Parts: sequence; C-alpha cells; structure tokens
Amino acid sequence: MALIQLIYVSSAIEELNDEQLDRILESSVRHNQPQSVTGMLLYARGNFMQVIEGEEAAINETYHRICQDPRHHNIFLLSREPIAKREFSTWSMAYHRLTQQDAEAHPAYAPYFINGFSAPEISARPGLAAEMLKQFSKI
Ligand SMILES: Cc1cc2nc3c(=O)[nH]c(=O)nc-3n(C[C@H](O)[C@H](O)[C@H](O)COP(=O)(O)O)c2cc1C
Repeated sequence: MALIQLIYVSSAIEELNDEQLDRILESSVRHNQPQSVTGMLLYARGNFMQVIEGEEAAINETYHRICQDPRHHNIFLLSREPIAKREFSTWSMAYHRLTQQDAEAHPAYAPYFINGFSAPEISARPGLAAEMLKQFSKI
C-alpha cells in the first residue's frame, strides 16, 4: 500500500494555551500510534501547520478526523503526495510552538510564521512547508 505524506495549515478557533495544546497533542498521539501515523505539528500565533505520514487508508482516516475537530477551522490542504519513505518517522506526533526566538534564529522562515501561517503565501512556495516542518523538528 502507498505511503502518503499530507500537509495542511489551519486556524485555531481561539488562541490556545499550553494545556489546550497538550490535549490536542495527547489525542493525536493516542490515535496515531496504533495506525503507525507519524508527523509533526507546529503552532504559531493561533495557527497550525501539520504533516502526517502513513499508509493511505490511515492518512485518509486521520485527515478526516482532523477536519472534523471543532477546535480549528479554515483548514487548507497544502500537499498530499506519495513518498518513498517517511521523513518524520521518529514520533507519532512531534510538536513545537514557534516563538520570537525561532524567528530570530531563522529569519528566512520568520515572515511565514511570525503573524501565524498564511496559506496563500506558503502555498506560493512549493516545498516550503515541508522544509519548515523538517527544520523545526530538529529542535
Ligand atoms: C491541530 C489538530 C491536530 C490534530 N492532529 C491529529 C492527528 O495527528 N491524528 C488524529 O488522529 N487526530 C488529530 N486531531 C483530531 C483529534 O484527535 C480528534 O478531534 C479526536 O476526535 C479528539 O477526540 P478524543 O481526544 O476524544 O479522541 C487533531 C486535531 C487538531 C485540532
């Protein structure tokens, strides 16, 4: 079965505190582990960017579940493509909250997250979302 990588951005319905983000992460890990879904979730100023990787059926089911979650909206699919191997294989869901410090350390990426993720700007640069997710998964 094909291995699929899917990336989207979305907006939280309100600015979330660490406890609310922890709850989202906990349910992600709980659902992803048994289905061998891996990935990375970034949070910046009330916006999410997430990559999920896994078998096609598991990714379809997971993305459907994600889209149903009332804690976010304006879900914009950036890419969905077959991959030869996982790029985010270590975690069932890695997580990083982007800060001012990240903006200073990565000035090339800062405009794309400092005021939250902007779907039109990010989708205008193919490969950028995956690059950013990869970069911040190393922290
Ligand atoms: C930003 C965000 C990321 C999410 N990531 C995942 C995910 O990686 N895998 C998944 O199965 N669900 C994900 N979800 C959806 C929740 O797991 C889902 O809404 C679930 O039903 C929560 O309810 P539960 O904790 O009662 O299971 C995500 C939701 C949001 C808002």
